[in-house]
Amino acid sequence: MSNPRILVFASRNPDKLKEVSAILGKGFRVAGLDSLGFQSDIPEPFDTLEENALAKARFVYSRYQCDCFADDTGLEVEALKGLPGVKSARYAGKDQDSAANIRKLLGEMDGKDNRRARFRTVIALIIRGREHLFEGVVSGNIAAGEKGSGGFGYDPVFIPEGYNRSFAEMDTETKNLISHRKDALEKLAHFLGEQK
Ligand code: IMP
Repeated sequence: MSNPRILVFASRNPDKLKEVSAILGKGFRVAGLDSLGFQSDIPEPFDTLEENALAKARFVYSRYQCDCFADDTGLEVEALKGLPGVKSARYAGKDQDSAANIRKLLGEMDGKDNRRARFRTVIALIIRGREHLFEGVVSGNIAAGEKGSGGFGYDPVFIPEGYNRSFAEMDTETKNLISHRKDALEKLAHFLGEQK
């Protein structure tokens, strides 16, 4: 059997690394930034998910000259013209947490009839020196209030289409079957499968 190909994922989040490794399968060994000895967060200064994902992948590529990929995710709410979007992590301010982000979101959504929203993940891959982008989406609605205690980020207020439970009321396996990240990662896996 041939050796697995090494791909660096520009992330230091062990849960994400696990999810990515499981989806890409045995043909790839996914190495996180920690395993390269890189222990800071790569900045995400841009106004689009695409630019941020590309900037992170380019950062890793220019430093280590290896095949690599990076992701960026946002919650895009129709009635808020796509906000919090690329600002999802810091919607309520730089040093605020998810609870504050959710409070701000529910405040902005007060009285709004259109509660449609989607999570969108963009993955930027640099392989053999060439750049590729992949997008994953899950559509749904913003709940009137928080529901459930699982998950992270905006999970308690996001109800995916076709369900009457929030992401925070689902077990991780169920969420990961339908999530934006899974959608983007499957597109990445399919592309990599065709590259061999
Ligand atoms: P990241 O690009 O994966 O770090 O995501 C940016 C921000 O989007 C996070 O800090 C969360 O607030 C939010 N987010 C991303 N993915 C999810 C998810 O699956 N559920 C809830 N919130 C998420």
